[in-house]
Amino acid sequence: MRIGVLMGGDSSERNVSLKSGLAIVNACRELGYKVIEFDSKEGIDSFSEEIKTVNLVFNALHGGDGENGTISSKLNNLGVKYTGSNKEASVICINKHVSKEIVKKNNYLTPDWVILNKDENDPDISNLSFPLVVKPNSEGSTIGLSIIQNESEVMEAIKLAKNYDDNILIESFIKGREITVGIIDGKSYPIVEIIPSHEIYDYECKYTKGLTDYICPAEIEEKTSKTIQKIALEIHKLLKCRHYSRVDFRLDEDDKPWFLEINTHPGMTETSLLPKSASASGLDFNSLVNKIINKAL
Ligand SMILES: Nc1ncnc2c1ncn2[C@@H]1O[C@H](COP(=O)(O)OP(=O)(O)O)[C@@H](O)[C@H]1O
Ligand SMILES: [Mg+2]
Repeated sequence: MRIGVLMGGDSSERNVSLKSGLAIVNACRELGYKVIEFDSKEGIDSFSEEIKTVNLVFNALHGGDGENGTISSKLNNLGVKYTGSNKEASVICINKHVSKEIVKKNNYLTPDWVILNKDENDPDISNLSFPLVVKPNSEGSTIGLSIIQNESEVMEAIKLAKNYDDNILIESFIKGREITVGIIDGKSYPIVEIIPSHEIYDYECKYTKGLTDYICPAEIEEKTSKTIQKIALEIHKLLKCRHYSRVDFRLDEDDKPWFLEINTHPGMTETSLLPKSASASGLDFNSLVNKIINKAL
């Protein structure tokens, strides 16, 4: 069995993807698969013939074309099987505004928001109350995100976010705890509570050892936990995700989960959140990788 591990890419999450890719490569070798590594820094066209020789591509890309459906659609056209969501789901999930719309329509909680499109600079935020979160609509890793306390900070925050994306999301800040739920092969895994040393789970807290505490399973009343896991799985299905995903929520002071986003290609280093969630229910990293591979084959 030959597995191609697709990693790197050219998104702002390139370095994280290289780490996920390496961890997956090691796991595949330990599982006895033959592994070929592909870095799609300039897309996948230059190695499209070689990639057709593998039995399966493990897509370890985060953000950009690797997560927005472009690469999954190309793999599809090449007739190569791949892990993770297809184009249809990826296009929706990379877009926080569109996924929030669907989630809201189906009566799940998501913070109130407005979307600011390419040529708009003057948002109508009269229906939102401060503090607000301003973030690029389709970025990951908390890049270009600000929390603002009043009107005077709006423009600066939009300007920052516009460095990363044409479309900007302005959202109510949900006071409370930070949680995420791993979904693997049609099942919800234990909730991870994230306790960053900064006010939010920013880039530094995400990727610097020691800056964040992770508690899994999260200390949440059992009945509430079950409900949150159920909601996460329902959202995964609603957005038509495949094989695995990770759903981010804020848990407010009444233990109500507010959907922030779903990640179709969550981090896959051994210490990333989805592997943490899996391991809390006895699924070690190699078994997790193998489960995803077998599901995708
Ligand atoms: N509405 C919100 N209320 C409170 N914190 C938020 C909100 N939106 C984002 N955050 C904080 O910013 C982090 C990143 O936001 P998220 O929407 O998950 O985008 P991404 O992970 O794709 O950068 C969250 O994990 C959380 O710590
Ligand atoms: Mg997130």
